[in-house]
Amino acid sequence: MTQIVTDPSWTRVAAASQIGPDTALSVQVGDRTVCLARSRGQLHALLDVCSHGQVPLSAGDVEDGTIECYLHGSRFELATGRPLSLPATQPVPTFAVRVVGDDVYLNTAQTAAANAAP
Ligand code: FES
Repeated sequence: MTQIVTDPSWTRVAAASQIGPDTALSVQVGDRTVCLARSRGQLHALLDVCSHGQVPLSAGDVEDGTIECYLHGSRFELATGRPLSLPATQPVPTFAVRVVGDDVYLNTAQTAAANAAP
């Protein structure tokens, strides 16, 4: 896990303590804006753009492993980016995220599926 700190494909983006339960934080990683959200004790990272209307997901409510788009109410599963309700029909890209101490690291070249890796 600590090799992430020196691996250039991972970028420190925030302090884990900045993201409380059922809250979201928007961070910039290169040319991407990423929404970090914590729910059910897990930290997730997904593109901070709703797939329906191009508004920031980080402005929405986080609850039960999902985030709700504030504009039209589509809810997205944080772990997969999959829309759970209309009007959005397309998923939002997810990214690999790791916490080392109080530091949150992102790898935007890996999807959240990598989070399940040991
Ligand atoms: S802009 Fe997000 S659901 Fe419409």
